[in-house]
Amino acid sequence: MTRARSIAAIVVAAGKGERASANGESLPKQYRSVHGIPVLTRTIKALLALPDVTFVQPVIHPDHADLYAGLGLDDERLLPPVMGGATRQSSVLEGLKALGRQRPDYVLIQDAARPFIGAELVAGVVAGLADHEGALPAVPVTDTIKRAPDGVNIVATEDRRVLFAAQTPQGFRYPQIFSAHMRASTLPREFTDDAAIAEWAGLRVALTPGNTSNIKITHPEDFARAERMIAGAQSMET
Ligand code: CTP
Ligand code: MG
Repeated sequence: MTRARSIAAIVVAAGKGERASANGESLPKQYRSVHGIPVLTRTIKALLALPDVTFVQPVIHPDHADLYAGLGLDDERLLPPVMGGATRQSSVLEGLKALGRQRPDYVLIQDAARPFIGAELVAGVVAGLADHEGALPAVPVTDTIKRAPDGVNIVATEDRRVLFAAQTPQGFRYPQIFSAHMRASTLPREFTDDAAIAEWAGLRVALTPGNTSNIKITHPEDFARAERMIAGAQSMET
């Protein structure tokens, strides 16, 4: 008998959201509401809405335990939060360690600050894992990209046709990404996403279709954009 494939999702929410608070806002961005619902609640509920996701493991900042409890999230597939680290990379590693008991087949690593993930986008990532060890949603780059190491003098214009912007959730086979993250944590350098760690470890990582509406709330103005996106989606439903 074959056991059903298990898929865990880690939601990294242990950041301070400093750029989004540049306007003096004191509440960290993942706890601020968009259309009445906190960003982190939206992200976790979007994952719990997917029947294939067996567990969701939140990773939070130690100073945010009360804020997290205040979300009032309760679901049998939602694991108790674990505390993150000083960098996104170390927060992901804490989430991977916490899943050591569940030992899922696949893990999806999701930014709390990306509440607009849809079922189709996630299904594409999971499908990508059938023949790759990692898969992530990405969209073609639309701007022309200049290479200028000193920030002024252009040394090259990149070929945009081969460039893609990475999103989350990034999916991996759990034992492989756990081992890659453990090894990466001993290096003096930081990686900017989990796929970069997988690539460094020699895993085969594929791009799957991303979505331009899968934005990461980063700056204060992104809240207005997120509000408009939800208002637009609701007016299309009615
Ligand atoms: N994150 C984390 N642990 C950290 C840093 C970031 O779990 N030490 C999470 C954030 O909570 C966020 C995701 O990683 O959901 C992507 O990071 P980013 O958008 O950069 O969020 P922040 O680091 O919180 O924001 P900023 O860089 O503006 O301070
Ligand atoms: Mg950050």
